[in-house]
Amino acid sequence: MADLTGIDAGRVRQLEAAEKARFVAERPRSVDRLEQARKTMPRGVPMSWMDDLYEHPPVWVSYGKGAYFSDVDGNEYLDMYIADMSAFCGHAPDPVVEAVSRRMGLGNQFLLPGEDAIPLAEHLSARYGLPKWQFTLSATQANTEVIRLAREATGREIVLVFDGKYHGHGDATMVVLEDGEVVPEYDGLPSGVAGQARVIGFNDVGSLERVLAPRDVALVLAEPAMTNAGFLLPEDGFHGSLRRLTREVGTLLAIDETHTLVTAYGGLTRKWELEPDFLTLGKSIAAGVPLGAYGMTDEMASLIAPPEESYVVSGAVTGEVATGGTLFANALSLAAGRAALTEVLTQDAYRRTAALGGKMAGGLRGAIDEAGLRWSVAQEGAHACYFFETVAPRDGAGSRAADDPDLRALIRVFMANRGVWESGWWLGPTVSVAHTDADVQRYVGIFGEFLAAAT
Ligand SMILES: Cc1ncc(COP(=O)(O)O)c(C=O)c1O
Repeated sequence: MADLTGIDAGRVRQLEAAEKARFVAERPRSVDRLEQARKTMPRGVPMSWMDDLYEHPPVWVSYGKGAYFSDVDGNEYLDMYIADMSAFCGHAPDPVVEAVSRRMGLGNQFLLPGEDAIPLAEHLSARYGLPKWQFTLSATQANTEVIRLAREATGREIVLVFDGKYHGHGDATMVVLEDGEVVPEYDGLPSGVAGQARVIGFNDVGSLERVLAPRDVALVLAEPAMTNAGFLLPEDGFHGSLRRLTREVGTLLAIDETHTLVTAYGGLTRKWELEPDFLTLGKSIAAGVPLGAYGMTDEMASLIAPPEESYVVSGAVTGEVATGGTLFANALSLAAGRAALTEVLTQDAYRRTAALGGKMAGGLRGAIDEAGLRWSVAQEGAHACYFFETVAPRDGAGSRAADDPDLRALIRVFMANRGVWESGWWLGPTVSVAHTDADVQRYVGIFGEFLAAAT
């Protein structure tokens, strides 16, 4: 019997067994490496997510170019996951390869500013509309510093995030709702994080108003459209209410464009004319070379002030907001960021990727219709997401209710066996600057092949 997704659960199990067996059989070298790696690395991978994110064993990658990458067994994949959006520039984009090679030859790490810092900050300022910028190595660290600045600016501790969010592996935002209570999301976190956070549903203006009312929230940290629980678009007027309500109670607003920066030049902040106090970026802004950044208003920037007195060696209160790191804003990351933003992520690239994203969403809808299913597709620019439900959800709870993890896992392994690297379960496919019309057609064709096999 077909379940809510319209696909029979028995058929899913049957296909899954065959596809998983094929996946392993066709990747003997990856399987061997995993075995060997288990001797020196927990779970057999250099970073646990490389095992965590997939229901099949990880493939070991040999190289990537453009919209494709290859594994050590010689399998080639059309990449629709693009490394959780961090490879939006395509793999090994020529301008970034050149800039990084040149910079490496000239020295990469001085703990001093170099030739790329000013052009990069000026570019970000013009592109995203916030006047002042600081650089880290990741979006997680950018969000961490933004939270500290907001706490200092407001004299409050609480951070408000939306259910289904992900803003990186910083303690302050790794909280979830359980039976209406905020609790730590992972093991290893101090229980105190829950007391410093509030979590409400996206698009829920009533709860927002209620939770902000005590005037103890330092910062609302939000993606403009949520990307880590499917793709959840804001309802009309939501962002207007969010900005109005936060201003009314003296709460600061940070818009996290780490993922959504792929959808529009200047992000959705520019497209939708949002007015955040902070804006955070990462992942693809340096073509996947480690670089995070945050923009801020002049008022917030004034908090990054020098200490009032000279430092003693260490071990005394400094009177400064805690920002910085030895490798932050290193010359290599800045060179990569400048080349990626000015030579790869151009206005023209956004016009092309948005058009391809539209074709991808249209193709997915066509394949779903042809299979007689009632699934929905959300899309903005280069990014899309399909849901196993008629109406695309608008909050985290709705997205979880529409989900079917076994079906998603099957789609991913079925596609991998046919040379397509589908996105992670929480995300949805994205075209990169390197994708072509033919790539999108191929992706949609194999998606249709899956639906034909499963229905
Ligand atoms: C919206 C958002 N913000 C921040 C991050 C953290 O990025 P990173 O892991 O590169 O620090 C992510 C990662 O998925 C993200 O989706």
